[in-house]
Amino acid sequence: MGYADLRDWLKQVEGFGEVLRLNGADWNLEIGGLCEIIVREAKKSVPAILFDDIRGYPKGTRALFAMLSSVKRLALTVNLPLEYGGMMDFVRAFHEKIRDLQVIPPVTVKQGPVAENVMEGDRIDLYRFPSPFHHEKDGGRYFGTAHVVLTQHPDEGWYNLGTYRCMVHGKDTLGLHITGGKHGRIHRDLYFERGQPMKVVVAAGVDPALYLAAASEIPWSVSEYGYAGALKGEPIAVMTGPYTGFPIPATAEIVVEGECYPGELQDEGPFGEWAGYYANRGLEKVPEPVIHVKRILHRTDPILTCAQPSRPPHEYSFYRSIVRSGLVWDELEKAGVPDVKGVWCHEAGGSRLFTIVSIHQRYAGHARQAGLLASQVHSGAYVGRYVIVVDEDIDPSNTQDVLWALATRSEPERSVEIIRRAWSSSADPALPVDQKLFNSRCIIDACKPYEWKDKFYPVAETSPELRAELLKKWGDKILNGV
Ligand SMILES: Cc1cc2nc3c(=O)[nH]c(=O)nc-3n(C[C@H](O)[C@H](O)[C@H](O)COP(=O)(O)O)c2cc1C
Repeated sequence: MGYADLRDWLKQVEGFGEVLRLNGADWNLEIGGLCEIIVREAKKSVPAILFDDIRGYPKGTRALFAMLSSVKRLALTVNLPLEYGGMMDFVRAFHEKIRDLQVIPPVTVKQGPVAENVMEGDRIDLYRFPSPFHHEKDGGRYFGTAHVVLTQHPDEGWYNLGTYRCMVHGKDTLGLHITGGKHGRIHRDLYFERGQPMKVVVAAGVDPALYLAAASEIPWSVSEYGYAGALKGEPIAVMTGPYTGFPIPATAEIVVEGECYPGELQDEGPFGEWAGYYANRGLEKVPEPVIHVKRILHRTDPILTCAQPSRPPHEYSFYRSIVRSGLVWDELEKAGVPDVKGVWCHEAGGSRLFTIVSIHQRYAGHARQAGLLASQVHSGAYVGRYVIVVDEDIDPSNTQDVLWALATRSEPERSVEIIRRAWSSSADPALPVDQKLFNSRCIIDACKPYEWKDKFYPVAETSPELRAELLKKWGDKILNGV
């Protein structure tokens, strides 16, 4: 189908009936609370939620939540057909799409719609945007949640885009929380170690494919602009940022240009996080770098795109599970693991803590190889915890099936491997606040034991042939009303 920018995307999503418009809500806790209820209570797929007439803001200044929380919206975003039989079918389609992805570099335009309005000097005011105060225990309003943060490698020159939360400290200052090992954090450390300031761009309401790419673990030095262009099948339009000189997304709703200074920290958070907790330091604030805003560009009637982490399944956990499953699957194949049949990064673990890989076991050691690698490839390495490897008759996205395999085919004494001192984060809720450096991984081989897999006990269930026959004869009588 294709779409030009967020507004065009939204129009198409409205066309297939997936936009819920809500007028008159308050940015202070109401928007966040409503969003959580809608996500939890949704009978079918979660709609994109567009808040307008937000208390204290002119009509037209909007906030958009749950952008990517349906298969159709995700498919539109990455330029795939909109309909699928089951979840794994869509994961497979996404995996096949990214298998041979060739990046499409951004195209530079002279000026994009984001430059319709410019704030400079005393006119800079972040409070002109309806940044939500998401949860009751949060420490402030968040401008940046479903956004991108652009930084440049100081020596190599390439740009990284990551989604790293930005809290509003004041009308021209934002907090910037980037956890260890993220590419933006490595950039930041490189500047600060040399005592140099770091220029930074924060953009909200960007092309949904660009947000998807920025929030995903794309390899080091690969441009998320190019990756997003490849997902869409057409280049992302950029223009030169007037303050930073960076290529900024030309069709974004809002672009903030600014600078962080080494040694300058301000208390940030707390903020409810993706694993479902205030895991950073509980309800304490934590000192983080500050972005001094030098210029803001924005479209007329801007849309602030937002994401709300909380106890999963939450507002964006669905899309994270699908995208990460595709990425891990892709990296497993590229690392040489044959015959991967499916990957599911479960929403309960915020798409990171609980990963299931299904394989057709080809050789002794295949299951261990798949499990160990799934826990360490780039898209699976950060704050992982459990990886379960199952046979191909198990649908990794079917929790009942997975638990059945775990309970019946694994044997703790032979099936479990532990990896120690792995890549963790302040967001890991299983670690005490003063020991957030490393975590461990548990790889569970829940496949039929390789040595006697062909003699493994027969499954006690009706054959597909008999089932089909019975359904043909009895289907109407037994399925109606059951
Ligand atoms: C809604 C949302 C919010 C996120 N917030 C943060 C954050 O505050 N800090 C962080 O380090 N990563 C955060 N992430 C995860 C990163 O965006 C993700 O790890 C991404 O791969 C980082 O980019 P990089 O791989 O270029 O470092 C968030 C992801 C999403 C989807």
